[in-house]
Amino acid sequence: MSQMNPSSQRPSIGLSSHRNSITWFFILILLIYSLYSSKLILNKDDNPNCSLTSSSDISDKQKLEQVVLTIPPPSTTTTNSSQEEPTENAVVADPSHDNRDELQLNDIIFGIAASSKLWEKRKEYIKLWWRPGETRGVVWLDKPVVSTRDEGLPDIRISGNTSDFKYTNRQGKRSALRISRVVSETLRLGMKDVKWFVMGDDDTVFIVENVVRVLSKYDHNQYYYVGSSSESHIQNLFFSYSMAYGGGGFAISYPLAKELEKMQDRCIQRYPGLYGSDDRIQACMAELGVPLTKEIGFHQYDVYGNLLGLLGAHPVTPLVSLHHLDVVDPIFPGMKRVEGLRRLFESVEQDSASIIQQSICYDTKRYWSISVSWGYVVQIIRGVISPRELQTPARTFLNWYRRADYTAYAFNTRPVSKHPCQKPFLFYLKSVKYDEKRRQIIGVYSRYKESYPYCRWKSDSPEKLDSIVVLKKPDSSRWKRSPRRDCCRVLPSRKESVLYLWVGNCRQGEISEL
Ligand SMILES: *[C@@H]1O[C@H](CO)[C@@H](O)[C@H](O)[C@H]1NC(C)=O
Ligand SMILES: *[C@@H]1O[C@H](CO)[C@@H](O)[C@H](O)[C@H]1NC(C)=O
Repeated sequence: MSQMNPSSQRPSIGLSSHRNSITWFFILILLIYSLYSSKLILNKDDNPNCSLTSSSDISDKQKLEQVVLTIPPPSTTTTNSSQEEPTENAVVADPSHDNRDELQLNDIIFGIAASSKLWEKRKEYIKLWWRPGETRGVVWLDKPVVSTRDEGLPDIRISGNTSDFKYTNRQGKRSALRISRVVSETLRLGMKDVKWFVMGDDDTVFIVENVVRVLSKYDHNQYYYVGSSSESHIQNLFFSYSMAYGGGGFAISYPLAKELEKMQDRCIQRYPGLYGSDDRIQACMAELGVPLTKEIGFHQYDVYGNLLGLLGAHPVTPLVSLHHLDVVDPIFPGMKRVEGLRRLFESVEQDSASIIQQSICYDTKRYWSISVSWGYVVQIIRGVISPRELQTPARTFLNWYRRADYTAYAFNTRPVSKHPCQKPFLFYLKSVKYDEKRRQIIGVYSRYKESYPYCRWKSDSPEKLDSIVVLKKPDSSRWKRSPRRDCCRVLPSRKESVLYLWVGNCRQGEISEL
């Protein structure tokens, strides 16, 4: 019976051990206290700061070293240029900012959806932005193609067989199934150290540094689906405003891609009636409950005609992608499509963060309004046009149904001016180079020769100008600051035929006014 009544014994055992442990506890405290106080006294004699040594102290030290390392070496020239240095280092040297965790280009895997039929032509677009040895990713094709090793293109893979999946949409193509599965198939390749998957078509051109800049705003350990809608309001009504358009490209964080991969094939079977690959992705995202995070630097470009209006007044956000470049006019008139893009990429190489960023200023003597789309085009218009208007894209393009319709777009646009004096004079980028001595980029833009209607205004005509020289310091950390348009200033010039402009961070109190 006594054995069967353990409860009567348990408290007594507990009490006696309790008493013992209380005694030991006091002895231990005494010991620790005496040890600690003696050590403190010793340390005080040695070094007053040592008692603070901890892991946080070490990381602070490392941060300090980083700060020291990022401070630029003193200028070797005798000119006093400290005032004019780019503000880049101000942000980098912020000790609360830890560079080691910053997103790098090789943390991103690109999955490019391509077709064997168009490969010969489309691969030229990929070559524009792909950086062998730097960018990581694969092209997914339906069938093998002839390829040479040293073309500077990503590895080619053949997509899995999708003939067992249902597809019932009358307008679309079955290839949508294959393309939609690019995310999952890329994940299954099991590449190491991946933070993001970025999807694009074979006619999507990425500015890869800006992909990094935009994605580094988000925690890749969380679930993110990042992209943008179409320019076409009707397309967005038809598909969805909360869908990332595939041609513009979109990004999926690694953990979200893992969740998607587990369910995508089941999910796809539930939506046989959908049209494309991107609406299938969105349907699965809706099942996962992950909304679209909109980044308006991704461009589907569901338009026809001339992109000038859009590229001349880009929103104040990094340019991430361009799409449908086969559909729209070549971006540099008179040049082949790929050739023109290659010229744009010469500016990208100099300052990717600032590519096609707009700045607005006025020539006070000649009453000209000047709008710079850095690295691409400068527009001069006679008279004063407010920044409010100039920052709104002019409808130089047609909608997705090839009509000029001002209600067609998912953002504000303005009409192309019909006033005979206010047709813009266009100066397209001719050449760009970096001036090591002055540490600035020199861009030369030459006038595009068109015919102009007769203008009765007595003011100077921009026709007198042959070229515009734009000076700018590289500004790779501009997007770490709050978004703001650059300022531009008209510089003095000795030649009648050349206009010199400066583009860069606005001074305190500097605004775009005449
Ligand atoms: C540089 O500028 C500082 C203050 O702006 C001035 O005190 C200094 O004399 C200048 N040095 C030279 C070499 O011009
Ligand atoms: C795909 O699978 C179907 C049957 O599941 C088969 O008939 C077809 O030949 C396969 N296609 C390819 C390209 O392997």
